[in-house]
Amino acid sequence: MARKSLTLGIFGFGCVGQGLWLTLNRSHGINASVKRICVKHPEKERPIPASYFTFDPKVLLEDPEINVIVELIDDSDAAWEIVRGAIVRGKAVVTANKKMIAEHFEELQDLQRKHQVPVLYEGACCASIPVIRNLEEYYDNDFLESIEGIFNGSTNYILDRVFRDGQAFEDALAGAQAAGFAETDPTLDVDAYDPRYKLAILAAHAFGQWVEPENILRIGIRALSAPEFRFAQERGWRLRLVARARKLGTGLHISVLPQFVSAENPLFHVQDENNGVLLEGAFSQVQFFKGKGAGSLPTGSAVLSDISALGYDYRYEYRKRQLRPKPLPQVDCSIRVYFRYQDPEVLALLAFEEIEESYRSAGFRYITGRVKTSVLRAFQATGQSASTFVAELPDSVAEEVLLESKTLDLVGANA
Ligand code: HSE
Repeated sequence: MARKSLTLGIFGFGCVGQGLWLTLNRSHGINASVKRICVKHPEKERPIPASYFTFDPKVLLEDPEINVIVELIDDSDAAWEIVRGAIVRGKAVVTANKKMIAEHFEELQDLQRKHQVPVLYEGACCASIPVIRNLEEYYDNDFLESIEGIFNGSTNYILDRVFRDGQAFEDALAGAQAAGFAETDPTLDVDAYDPRYKLAILAAHAFGQWVEPENILRIGIRALSAPEFRFAQERGWRLRLVARARKLGTGLHISVLPQFVSAENPLFHVQDENNGVLLEGAFSQVQFFKGKGAGSLPTGSAVLSDISALGYDYRYEYRKRQLRPKPLPQVDCSIRVYFRYQDPEVLALLAFEEIEESYRSAGFRYITGRVKTSVLRAFQATGQSASTFVAELPDSVAEEVLLESKTLDLVGANA
């Protein structure tokens, strides 16, 4: 089948836009050409001829020759206006803007249906790892049990620089910014908003269940400090920022939390700005994908792959959403955590169900044990100060809970 000819209008020519430009120009199999690029700052020097650039979005949106809008800007509100404007004009869209997608997920589906245009966004989640199309196509049944992993390159880069290379947190963050991995507002990375957007999107494609990002438990790595380093080192563990959505019985356990991982966990070996995705199916069991999770060329290559897919009229079917007979509510799950604190009164905020270890020194204290995710949510709502740090321990969800949830699912499937 001949591939469709695509004429692209690109919004944004930053890190990802330039990555796309380079990958597109080196590719021979894609029938696509760039007509115009809309950018914000006329004064910036750019490495390609000025005739490509415009500063007026309408030049792209109202050009009948342009049949694909590629949205690669930073501002999620402006991105939404562009994407909506493209869809209502019948133009296909490729975007890598996870915040915009997560903030308008359901509306985006309605608009795609109404105007019969595809919107693809592989580059929005885990950059170079082809995860969304896999969830849509290969795992198009309902046997997936869990998706979890490292969905943010900047924080993984920071954790490795701090834990492995002994750098100061601020220097490691500056490194992630200089390399173009971090968001313009690095709070989105460090406080785990960015992996939470990605988790919401991936969980929807994995399970057909949309969970509003603000309803997902989120604790970041901002308060990371020397005691965590010692705690991990003494046990031969590493710290990772882990996003997780797991079916438990008839519900969903979903969270983004720092987690100590041992060398048996593949995420232990995912270093620097790489991301890792662990998928577990009832029958396929565990599979693992690893690749660059941020950066100009890795993200540009995912965007290019979406453009290529438009050449054969590919679109997401969101089939699991249609198949899902009833919603998967969030379950309140008991998990094992490390909790560092200074003020003993703060400990009362986390009503531990069971305490495994308690440590005190002049400068800090920590406790490990079991706590409910609902309690952690209440803790998250209080705001996290520099004197406290929460991280899951390895094998944090009890084995018997996992086994029970699988048995239920399989019995349910046979009923
Ligand atoms: N800031 C993001 C990250 C960019 O570090 O993962 C890629 O989505």
